[in-house]
Amino acid sequence: MSITKPQVLDALKRVRGPDLAGNIVDLGMVSEVLIKDGRVAFSITVPAHRARELEPLRQAAEKVVSELAGVTAVTVVLTAEAPRGGAVREPPEHARVAQARARAGAVNGGSRPGTATPARQGGAVEGIRHMIAVASGKGGVGKSTTAVNLALGLQAIGLKTGILDADVYGPSQPRLLGLRGRPQVIAGKTLRPMEAYGLKVMSMGFLVDEDTPIVWRGPMVVQALNQMLRDVAWGHLDALIVDMPPGTGDVQLSMAQQAPLSGAVIVSTPQDLALIDARKGLSMFKKVDVPVLGIIENMSYFLCPKCGERSDIFGHGGAEREAERLGVPFLGAVPLHMEIRSRSDAGQPVVVADPDGANARIFREIAAKAWEVLETAASDLVPPKLEVSPDHDKLRVAFEDGRSYELSAEMLRVMSPSAEVQGHSPEQRITVPNKRNVKIRELRPVGNYAVRILFDDGHHTGLYAWSYLDELGREKDKRWAQYLAELEAKGLSRG
Ligand SMILES: Nc1ncnc2c1ncn2[C@@H]1O[C@H](COP(=O)(O)OP(=O)(O)OP(=O)(O)O)[C@@H](O)[C@H]1O
Ligand SMILES: [Mg+2]
Repeated sequence: MSITKPQVLDALKRVRGPDLAGNIVDLGMVSEVLIKDGRVAFSITVPAHRARELEPLRQAAEKVVSELAGVTAVTVVLTAEAPRGGAVREPPEHARVAQARARAGAVNGGSRPGTATPARQGGAVEGIRHMIAVASGKGGVGKSTTAVNLALGLQAIGLKTGILDADVYGPSQPRLLGLRGRPQVIAGKTLRPMEAYGLKVMSMGFLVDEDTPIVWRGPMVVQALNQMLRDVAWGHLDALIVDMPPGTGDVQLSMAQQAPLSGAVIVSTPQDLALIDARKGLSMFKKVDVPVLGIIENMSYFLCPKCGERSDIFGHGGAEREAERLGVPFLGAVPLHMEIRSRSDAGQPVVVADPDGANARIFREIAAKAWEVLETAASDLVPPKLEVSPDHDKLRVAFEDGRSYELSAEMLRVMSPSAEVQGHSPEQRITVPNKRNVKIRELRPVGNYAVRILFDDGHHTGLYAWSYLDELGREKDKRWAQYLAELEAKGLSRG
């Protein structure tokens, strides 16, 4: 006979509430009960400050359910109740973190001192320059794989980086990074992040066992995230990558709201359906005012591991077109490749396992591009007023503080910040000739930090950040003279 929810709840009514008043079911402390093949899981919500002391209550609940016929395993977790109001109150401690602390406390004798006041929810986290969410509308598109390789890619370009696995439902980072064990507790209060390949790492996976189904309720998840963000000694980081749970529901929305994100990266596969989800992701971040740094197309094309032949099995390029349509940068395409999967499964992300390989290079380039977009987006310039001349051959850029410049379409075109013109390093920069009569066809705003300029010769990949327009304006004469000299030196002309 299989076990049912009412039977579980009936049994749980035998468990008294805290201080022996009532029972935990009637007191509303028991979450949704999940049952699968005789395995039962649920959470009990308790006041934050009593999480540790109520451990016997959790054990009693586990015991009564495990004694029921047809039950093969029981998982009960205590989750902490969020306090209402009072922004200056300390955020509640998640029961799991309390347990981890209790365990470590037994070793190093630490207890939670009342003096250390964590930062307020939603505020900046000291020491962390940029926090970047990696999100997707849909599960299984390779978000966690991308997140870890992106983090390692940022590290490879010289940035101090960490990764926070915010997928409290199904943490993957411990496996992807081959990490086991529990984080240490410092001074009885703060968790020391784990480390792998030079990355600082924190994940709910370190605090719960991998096979434990986690029965979090929405608010608890947000709380767990806050704790992993703020009660962890991250130290100084240029970037903290946040691997988000899949989807764009309320939980994800409030997580995006709680973490002080500088930007978000959306991972999508090329198929239409995944793109619809990617769009949802985009609008979610828009709602909470987090700039989307760009879209990454994962499993974009298939590279045969034997012959290296490339096939576009999913119709490669969908995400790039979508990015353009939505006016966000396209950060790059990652192939569907056995190596990416097998290295991940072995706890050795491809960026560190095969740093000279093509896949590692792709991730490093994506990381560099995302970082560039982020730094530009973080500049605090107020969007200038842009005006194209009636002949479409000039752009007037007027900044809020009164500075204004007139830039010719020709200059903008030949100095386009696109990779096509600039290459990936100063040596690769191209001198573009024959653009004397080029015209501006259209301006498309990108977030609140740049404009995409479409020219009548078909060039459309340049994203002109306000700071770049400012630079061009200030150095107009010098740069123009340089351009003319380059043309002459190379035997080219303005056309
Ligand atoms: N480019 C790729 N080539 C081959 N395999 C890949 C690639 N990207 C991801 N995978 C594999 O696809 C599976 C799902 O990837 P991953 O766990 O990163 O997705 P996710 O979006 O984080 O999933 P979830 O929504 O469950 O969090 C994993 O087995 C991973 O190794
Ligand atoms: Mg994942």
